[in-house]
Amino acid sequence: PVSVFENPKAASLHVAGRIAAIIRKKQDAAEHAVLGLATGATPVAVYAELVRLHKEEGLSFKNVITFNLDEYYPMGPDAAQSYVSFMNDNLFDHIDIDKNNVHIPDGTLKLEEIPAFCLAYEKKIGDLGGLDIQILGIGRTGHIGFNEPGSAPNSGTRLVTLDDLTRRDAARDFGGKSFVPTKAITMGIGTIFKAKEIVLMAWNRKKASIIKKAVEGEISSEVPATYLQLSDNVEFILDKDAASLLT
Ligand code: F6R
Repeated sequence: PVSVFENPKAASLHVAGRIAAIIRKKQDAAEHAVLGLATGATPVAVYAELVRLHKEEGLSFKNVITFNLDEYYPMGPDAAQSYVSFMNDNLFDHIDIDKNNVHIPDGTLKLEEIPAFCLAYEKKIGDLGGLDIQILGIGRTGHIGFNEPGSAPNSGTRLVTLDDLTRRDAARDFGGKSFVPTKAITMGIGTIFKAKEIVLMAWNRKKASIIKKAVEGEISSEVPATYLQLSDNVEFILDKDAASLLT
């Protein structure tokens, strides 16, 4: 299903509310909530609302375990562009989550350590009973996580090569495309699909054409987000601009 909101703020409040409801429900059952998180511009207002719910409405994250979709490779956690820094700045430093419960792919591994790390990442998610919700943005290549065109529907967490368009879109954060890493570690399409709920968010005109392909286009590895059409647990949450080309 597709839900269209008046603006990104209203859509973000809706998504934050869904996440908060999962956290509270799990709290009442004395269980962990297992969240799959994304970085980038798209979820920033979602995280801001979760911080507000924590500070003003007593929402606790003590029972929350998180897994981020991806991290650049190579990437040190303290670098300004790391997804560790992004998550700390936008969410984790402002809530009461136990940092031991935070998982982000490790951009500092040696190449030969990556396969075992990726398998362990998948296993940790599985051992916790899977992701209760996975939130996603979408890249202009149609990537979800960093599953670029060519990714297989059953792909797992792995090292991938970033598409040139993705690196151009990241150039501003890095002060030039040549400084953007060529690789990343990402959850796979198969990993994402195992989540109990998947919410893909997109805002602004510049996402309208890729959203049209993702929602209405032929299912193809050329646009990995089209695989989401195959899942019953997916909701596309859009603002009017991102939805503007849908029929
Ligand atoms: C981020 C991620 C990416 C982004 C996508 C959109 O963890 O996995 O797929 O969601 O590149 O980025 P923004 O939101 O910056 O347009």
